[in-house]
Amino acid sequence: MRGRRNRWARSPLVDARGAPATVSGVLPYNIDHVAIAVRDLEEAVERHMQLYGVEPLSTEVVESQGVIEAMIPIGGSYVQLIQPLGPETPVGRFIERRGEGLHHLAFAVSDIDDALRSLAEAGAVLVDEEPRTGGRGARIAFVHPRTMAGTLVELVELP
Ligand code: CO
Repeated sequence: MRGRRNRWARSPLVDARGAPATVSGVLPYNIDHVAIAVRDLEEAVERHMQLYGVEPLSTEVVESQGVIEAMIPIGGSYVQLIQPLGPETPVGRFIERRGEGLHHLAFAVSDIDDALRSLAEAGAVLVDEEPRTGGRGARIAFVHPRTMAGTLVELVELP
């Protein structure tokens, strides 16, 4: 038992007793979405409809991220299809380098300012020190892939 407790205590996101309460702001309460970078949004949306019978709840241009995005509801989360607005955008460069595919996953948090503070203290590398405005009027921020197994993570605080 002791060993197990110690193992958890090493996590920067829990306190010495393994309790997450001290960083409540950072606790993700849902996987808000999983994002897939695509070259042709219309085609990708059509494909999802054909294959899974699901259609987007919304489609919107998000200038701050250089994408047009479609949010397809799957249970309590979304698949977010993102098409770059141009080749010189981050997602444009991603597709250029690595092709279409999984781009990031997004955790819903209740207080993004608190979450960013906690993550910085825990040694995370933040792409965004301050939240910016994403789709659906949400406040969002990205955590650098080098923080966690090469995976880009987005935090989302819904309005
Ligand atoms: Co996203």
